[in-house]
Amino acid sequence: MSDTKPTGQAQAIPQHVAIIMDGNGRWAKKRGLPRLAGHQAGTENLRRIIRACVELGVRYLTIYAFSTENWGRPREEVEGLLKILESVIEKELRELHEEGVQLRHIGRLEKLPASLRTQVKNAIELTKDNDRLTVVVAFNYGGKDEIVHAVEQLIRAGVKPEEVSESLIASQLFTAGIPDPELIIRTSGEMRLSNFLIWQAAYSEYYVTPAYWPDFDKEELQKAIDAYGLRNRRFGSVDDENYKD
Ligand code: IPE
Ligand code: IPE
Ligand code: MG
Repeated sequence: MSDTKPTGQAQAIPQHVAIIMDGNGRWAKKRGLPRLAGHQAGTENLRRIIRACVELGVRYLTIYAFSTENWGRPREEVEGLLKILESVIEKELRELHEEGVQLRHIGRLEKLPASLRTQVKNAIELTKDNDRLTVVVAFNYGGKDEIVHAVEQLIRAGVKPEEVSESLIASQLFTAGIPDPELIIRTSGEMRLSNFLIWQAAYSEYYVTPAYWPDFDKEELQKAIDAYGLRNRRFGSVDDENYKD
């Protein structure tokens, strides 16, 4: 994570796009279907968006799939979401690997069933040398939990107060080594982070669309990227032209 950032017009294509994939439940409700049908449709959409990111030349795609707060949902929904993760890895891993996609996970694996943990670890290991697009899956992820985890690590390592810095903390986050997202997209119209990448989002550009996640297609992604391209990123500084009279 770089400390100095150039100011001015955003690049045409962000290198890191992060998506809060929201609205699966409402998408299903609108159709009189169970919530899990919405999650299934959302998962199918993910495949399309990963492909679109590869085509567009996005280097990192982080997807918020399950938050630390989502454990509070009804048991069948939580179990259904765990099953969906399992079947996605089973069905898609080979093709993703062939397309040069690297998989990473952020969050805590501890709470997941042992077989799923092993499956996730194997997928990460298999794809670790791929470099076309890194898909970062936030599953059992919470931004506050991530910071707690980082602090625990620093204390355990015996770091002294005067050694603490932004880059040292960043190095202990689950996202260590991944550049901060330039663009964060949230579907379904909600305007909040819901505990997503709260540290890394410090200077991200936000884009909210009313589209529910299963309906968020390549054109919607392009619209978000176009909107991002028009943003003026100042990082607390002022544009050169603001110095002119
Ligand atoms: C997002 O869709 C997926 C997860 C949080 C797992 P939701 O399930 O939150 O859908 P809504 O917000 O109820 O429509
Ligand atoms: C955020 O969506 C989490 C994911 C998309 C995985 P939620 O639907 O859980 O967020 P809230 O409850 O509306 O804030
Ligand atoms: Mg939601």
